[in-house]
Amino acid sequence: MRYQPLPADLYKKNRHKFMAQMKPNSIAVFNSNDIYPISADSTLPFAQHRDIFYLTGVDQEESILLLFPDAKDPKNREILFLKETNDHIKVWEGEKLTKEKATELTGIENVHWLQDFEALLKKLAFQAERIYINTNEHYRAATEVETREDRFIKKAKKMFPGHKFERSNPILQRLRSVKEPEEIAQIQKACNITEAGFRRILDKVQPGLKEYELEAEFAHEFLRQGSKGFAYTPIIASGPNANVLHYIQNDAEIKDGDLILMDVGAEYGNWASDMTRCVPANGKFSPRQKEVYEAVLRVKDAAAKMLKPGVIWADYQDKVGRIMEKELIKLGLLTEEDIKNENPEWPAYKKYFMHGTSHHMGLDTHDYGILEEPMQAGMVFTVEPGIYIPEEGIGVRIEDDYVIQEEGEPVNLMKSIPITVEEIEALMAK
Ligand code: GLY
Ligand code: MN
Ligand code: MN
Repeated sequence: MRYQPLPADLYKKNRHKFMAQMKPNSIAVFNSNDIYPISADSTLPFAQHRDIFYLTGVDQEESILLLFPDAKDPKNREILFLKETNDHIKVWEGEKLTKEKATELTGIENVHWLQDFEALLKKLAFQAERIYINTNEHYRAATEVETREDRFIKKAKKMFPGHKFERSNPILQRLRSVKEPEEIAQIQKACNITEAGFRRILDKVQPGLKEYELEAEFAHEFLRQGSKGFAYTPIIASGPNANVLHYIQNDAEIKDGDLILMDVGAEYGNWASDMTRCVPANGKFSPRQKEVYEAVLRVKDAAAKMLKPGVIWADYQDKVGRIMEKELIKLGLLTEEDIKNENPEWPAYKKYFMHGTSHHMGLDTHDYGILEEPMQAGMVFTVEPGIYIPEEGIGVRIEDDYVIQEEGEPVNLMKSIPITVEEIEALMAK
């Protein structure tokens, strides 16, 4: 395995937290993702569904977790189903989890091969009243693809028309949004790998390179350090491309005088990191680039201080907007008049800062978490204000990942990644 898995105790704890939220006499089922096809026999690399991973640590296709906390026979309280392996399969497909290794990894004693799933599910479901199914209720989810989980849901509803169905997802949204210390340590590793990638590119940046050459340097460093690669599609946007918020082509030539926005994060053991830094192509910020950059940095620092238990995301977003509008006035981009006449539904600052300041970050880059509920200690949020000025060919975003604390300021997991104009210029001058 490329990464150091977290201890089985963590997964046991995660399952107990989930089971404690289930209604009596219920079963819950969680499926792996499919391996997605391209065409012919080509496939995309496997990426595990984060929920079964959160509950078991199993990073393998065709795995199923069944939880039945009130099962009469205690061995049926937690059952893991895995794709069968044996010496023959090992020759053709390589190492898969054996039952013994799976128990060691997950802390689940009762491990079956996948072919036992339907019969055992039937037997146990007829002892239960409810079945928890796992629909994707993420506020940004938009996919046309039918997942393995979706297929299971359809099948379960057909197989058990008399049962009551319950939703796992709100429970998982709440649990996964508050991280255990071991989980934060894994995110910290991902952040550290991102830092190594950023330091590597600072030595390489120069006019004349293609944006993808910087992407390649990040990828090289990430893979070298045991990451599977980018936690999300990276954005390497030079000059005016930085004003396209989801620019992922990364195919333009970097020009002298460009500021390059890099929104890049490594994954580690399926945990994400999410960083944005901007650097000048020629090693020196122009006076205007510096002015805009430092305004964004002040907003980032002020916003981060506001991340505390009890805060509601929408109120926080409003307050950050108010700080941003002062900076935009100083930069000559807005006037007091603009603010006075603004449409409250679309405040004036949104002309230059049109996205959210923060999102939950964890196993998914835009992680689970119910934004309408108060923030809690142990939640990890990005802080990523930006100022985008297409008419000047400048786009700046700065992004760090923070852990909310019971008391005091949040901990910045990216505090050692160079961020000030002076630090970046000094490192690029070397
Ligand atoms: N990299 C995606 C984001 O910053 O939200
Ligand atoms: Mn982000
Ligand atoms: Mn980002």
